[in-house]
Amino acid sequence: MTSVAGKTAFVTGGGSGVALGQAKALVKAGAKVAIADVRQDHLDEAAAWFAAQGTPVMSVKLDITDRAAYAQAADAVEERLGPVQMLFNTAGVSHFGPIQDATPEDWQWQIDVNLYGVINGIGTFLPRMLARGDDCHVVNTASMSAFVALPGCGIYTATKMAVRGLSESLNMDLAATKVRVSMLCPGAVRTNIHQSLKTRPAHLANTGYYTGTPEDEARLKQIIDIGMEPERLAGYVLEAMARDQFYILPYPEFRQPLEDIHAAVMACVGKPEDDPEYAMRAARGVPGGAQDQ
Ligand SMILES: NC(=O)c1ccc[n+]([C@@H]2O[C@H](COP(=O)([O-])OP(=O)(O)OC[C@H]3O[C@@H](n4cnc5c(N)ncnc54)[C@H](O)[C@@H]3O)[C@@H](O)[C@H]2O)c1
Repeated sequence: MTSVAGKTAFVTGGGSGVALGQAKALVKAGAKVAIADVRQDHLDEAAAWFAAQGTPVMSVKLDITDRAAYAQAADAVEERLGPVQMLFNTAGVSHFGPIQDATPEDWQWQIDVNLYGVINGIGTFLPRMLARGDDCHVVNTASMSAFVALPGCGIYTATKMAVRGLSESLNMDLAATKVRVSMLCPGAVRTNIHQSLKTRPAHLANTGYYTGTPEDEARLKQIIDIGMEPERLAGYVLEAMARDQFYILPYPEFRQPLEDIHAAVMACVGKPEDDPEYAMRAARGVPGGAQDQ
């Protein structure tokens, strides 16, 4: 998408952090923006900020795990701002702890928001985009956890690796359409993600992890506070969109871990000379990558 000016964007989690940075960058670039968030206080604060700049945005209270509510939000935004050409699936939550301590509710909540939230966004807006046939862009925010697993955050990592798989396939599925796809994988960003538990629904409250004491929050905030400023991160996103670039991986500190993972995987991949059936499969067209599909 060469220019976002005059186009309409729907940004989930837009009341805070990474998504708010995206909304600010989009508004600055001349887009019409709707911010959707489950936290009314985040929406109010963000809306007041935009209004004070003289660049109001549309605020929508939405729990992205609720597919029916998502469709209603989409209707309301398209009625007021026109067809949505840019979908930013950015809202997400994290609650860390070892997998062996996780309850079913720990899994459910993070999968609901981090994975089904993205699925619901795509399920709601993609049919509308494809039906109209104009230039559109879907930006999914995953994380460097989509590539690099660390101990103590297995559920979060599983959801982000799922968003990566979904995004990579979607990018291939839509290649022949006018809808482009990008996947943002941030490292640390200076946001309010340490407050994720505030949005955890009561019916999924049962947790095997720490309870979110002020000390726990402060510990997480220390890590987040050395992260990238959200609006700067959003700058990379707009640049990538202008180039129709799929991967948005702006953190140099992940070069070495990614190379290490690649080397570890390659060291374990079978070699043609060790597999007597390889030549036969290769002759018939091995389904080994996108070029074979
Ligand atoms: N902060 C980081 O260091 C970091 C690193 C990598 C990836 N990310 C990803 O960035 C994205 C945004 O996170 P952030 O760091 O800006 O956090 P944040 O908490 O500052 O912002 C997330 C926003 O999403 C909203 N939200 C939560 N659940 C929701 C729901 N069910 N429906 C609608 N809105 C909901 C929250 O109210 C909040 O306003 C997430 O997907 C996160 O995984 C963040």
